[in-house]
Amino acid sequence: MDKLVIEGGVPLAGEIAVSGAKNATLPILTAALLTTEPLTVSNVPHLRDVTTMLNLLAQMGVRVSIDERLGVELSSARIAEPVAPYELVKTMRASVLVLGPLTARYGEARVSLPGGCAIGLRPVDQHLKGLQAMGAEVAIEHGYISVRAQRLRGARICMDLVTVTGTENIMMAATLATGTTVIENAAREPEVADLAHCLNAMGARVRGAGSDVITIEGVDRLHGARYRVMPDRIEAGTYLAAAAATGGSIRLTGTRPDILDAVLEKLREAGARITTGPDWIALETNGAPGAVNVRTAPYPAFPTDMQAQFMALDSVARGTALVTETVFENRFMHVQELKRLGADIEVEGNTAVVKGVAHLDGATVMATDLRASASLVLGGLIARGATTVERVYHIDRGYERIEEKLSKLGARIRRVR
Ligand code: EPZ
Repeated sequence: MDKLVIEGGVPLAGEIAVSGAKNATLPILTAALLTTEPLTVSNVPHLRDVTTMLNLLAQMGVRVSIDERLGVELSSARIAEPVAPYELVKTMRASVLVLGPLTARYGEARVSLPGGCAIGLRPVDQHLKGLQAMGAEVAIEHGYISVRAQRLRGARICMDLVTVTGTENIMMAATLATGTTVIENAAREPEVADLAHCLNAMGARVRGAGSDVITIEGVDRLHGARYRVMPDRIEAGTYLAAAAATGGSIRLTGTRPDILDAVLEKLREAGARITTGPDWIALETNGAPGAVNVRTAPYPAFPTDMQAQFMALDSVARGTALVTETVFENRFMHVQELKRLGADIEVEGNTAVVKGVAHLDGATVMATDLRASASLVLGGLIARGATTVERVYHIDRGYERIEEKLSKLGARIRRVR
C-alpha cells in the first residue's frame, strides 16, 4: 500500500488549479443510464471513486470511452444487467446512485445494500422511501435491494432528513416518471444543482435544485448531452485550510467562491485575508491561525466534509476551539491520529474540544476515511520533522494528484509505493 512521507513546517505558497467535483461527477455518470444516447462529461477528476463508478457502469453494459483529456463518453444503448454487485458497492457507497436511474429506465434494479462505513451506519431508507412513493416495489433479500416498477408515477415526497444522494436518486428516477414529482426537504448542496443542470441538458424538466423544494416534470425519454462538471469545493477548501494552517499564501484557479461561503467565512475568522474573483480564490495569512469553532450541517452551513481539515487547523491555532459534527455519528476517526502528532483534543459526544498547541511533531499515522486522511496530510504539513501517512488509497479516492499539487505549493511530500 502506498504511503505519503511529508517533511512539515513549510508555509504553502503558489498557485494550483482545482479539479472537477467528485460528488457531482458520481451522480452525473449514473445519469447516462437514463438515455440510450451518448452522454459526454468533461472536467472529470482522475480519482479512484470515479474509476470505480466507470467500472460499475461498464459491468452493467454501458459503453465507456475516455479521451486523452479525461473526457468521458458513456452510452447505455443496451444494459446487460441492471445489477450493482457487492464487490463494487462495498468499495464505494455512492454506487447506490444507480438505483434511481435503473428503476426509471429499466423498471428493475438490484443493488447490494451498502454496508456501513468508517464514518457511520449511513442507511439508504430515504432513497427507498422515495422510490416506493413513486410506485416501486422494494424488497431487501440476501443483502441486496431489489426494486421493480412498471412505470414510476410522480409523487409528492417529504424527506425525513436531508440526504444528498437520496435527493439525487429520487430526482433522477422522477425525470422519466409519469406526472410531476415534488421533493420537499431536499438537499441543497451545489452538486445536486449541478446534476439537475446536466439532467435538464438531457431534456429533463427539473426546477428548484439548490433549494429545499425540487419539482420534476416527468418526460418520456431523455437524450444525450455534453456536460462539464463543476469544480470541487471540498478540494478547494482543503487546500485553503492547508495554507492557513501552515501560515502560507496560495491562489486557487478554476474554482467558484460562491459555493464555499461558510468555509471562507471561517478562514477569515481564523485571520486569513481572502480575495476572490469569478473563478479564483486567493488566501493570505501571516503566522498561526486563530482558533475557530465549527459546527457541521447540510449546505449552505459548514460542510461535514471540511470538519476533519479544520480540526487539523485548530490543533495549532491560537486558543481553544469546539468542533461539532451533526451529520455523521462517527466522524472523529482522525482525532486519535492527530493526537499522535501531538494535538490536544478531547471528544465529548459529537463535540471535540481542540486546544491549540505551539507545534505538532511528525509521526506515522493511518488514514481511515477520505477526509480524515486529508486532515492527517494537513497535520504532516504542519508538524516538525517527518510524518508518514499510511493507507493513502483513502486519499486517492477524493484528491487528484495530491502530492503533485502540494509539491507545486512548496510542500516537501513524496509518495512511497
Ligand atoms: C454525500 O454522502 C457525500 N457523498 C458525502 O461525501 C458527504 O459527506 C455527505 O453527502 C454529506 O454532505 C457523495 O455525494 C457521493 P447523506 P451521502 O445521505 O449522500 C443519513 C466525501 O467525503 N441518512 O447526505 O451518503 C446518513 O446516515 C463523502 O466525499 C439516512 O439516515 O450522505 C447521514 O447521517 C463522504 N438515511 C446523513 O443522513 C438515508 O436514506 C447525511 O447523509 C440517507 C442518509
